[in-house]
Amino acid sequence: MRILSGIQPSGQLHIGNYFGMMRSMIASQDASELYAFIVDLHALTSVQDRERLSRGTLEAATDFLALGLDPARCTFWVQSDVPEVTELAWVLSTLTPMGLLERCHSYKDKVAKGIVPSHGLFAYPVLMAADILLFQAQRVPVGKDQKQHLEVARDIAIKFNNSFGETFVVPEPIIDDSLATIPGLDGQKMSKSYGNTIPIFATEKELKKKVMAIVTDATPVEEPKDPEKCNLFSLFKLFAPPDRLAEVHGLYVNGGAMYGKIKLELLELLWEYFRKAREKRALLLADPGQVRDILHRGAIKAREKAIVTLDLVRDRVGLKY
Ligand code: ADP
Ligand code: TRP
Repeated sequence: MRILSGIQPSGQLHIGNYFGMMRSMIASQDASELYAFIVDLHALTSVQDRERLSRGTLEAATDFLALGLDPARCTFWVQSDVPEVTELAWVLSTLTPMGLLERCHSYKDKVAKGIVPSHGLFAYPVLMAADILLFQAQRVPVGKDQKQHLEVARDIAIKFNNSFGETFVVPEPIIDDSLATIPGLDGQKMSKSYGNTIPIFATEKELKKKVMAIVTDATPVEEPKDPEKCNLFSLFKLFAPPDRLAEVHGLYVNGGAMYGKIKLELLELLWEYFRKAREKRALLLADPGQVRDILHRGAIKAREKAIVTLDLVRDRVGLKY
């Protein structure tokens, strides 16, 4: 099975990213053929700051490696190091109906928020389709918010195959429904753009500030509360061992759940959960040359595959004469 997914280097990675997609990606490298990459070209649609983009790219790669991605067992690279993807995106854009892109929620949401859209933002799903189709990926693990973009990629693949003959694998999303959307500190979807994240690699002090800021209701301690409606409980659930989770669940249902105490416990669990990754990250941060080397070697490996698909596409559409 060939699995592929990308992540934007547009800010500190958070536990929504981790449980929404990174964890299942990392887990898939053993049993599957994994393609993982940092989508710097996509990030350009929102990050127009040289230093932030380049530093963010290296940091996101470092974080991924620290969390367990093993370059010996997968192909791991930076999107712009494989420029074939932009040529494919152009070819695909010529058969993508405007209406398909106009219907995309993530585009519409950004416009509704007052962002003046660039052509790049509008065409974002076409580049994402090119990412996926270039490597003939069968499965794409993403959070629920990316489902529509996957549908666009599928539509484009099907349309291309119908017009020019079987060329692309039609990809399927992998969405873990139980974890579909991790809530942020305020209960909305955890997202860099809402400023409500718990970063994976915050310092202990920063982390404490974040955890203590998780919004809870004002129900008195002794009164029963619905755990499923509590943002703190949803986050606690991600880290607590099953026995402890059952106990805390009981406190919610029967009364006696103290938010302050649960927050401190969550803080401890979080800190432990990422301890090994944090140690590995410190080593990698001390040696950025090693990370760059890994990425350059990954790009060479990825390009070998990209060239084969692009050559076929050029032939299919008549760019060979
Ligand atoms: P952000 O919303 O913070 O900008 P991205 O859009 O860069 O995050 O998302 C990167 C990946 O992480 C995507 O696959 C996305 O679906 C997933 N993801 C992001 N936030 C969450 C969340 N709160 N819950 C689950 N998955 C998420
Ligand atoms: N759009 C995705 C996001 O914001 C990132 C992405 C770009 C991606 N290309 C991809 C994800 C290809 C999966 C496959 O999260």
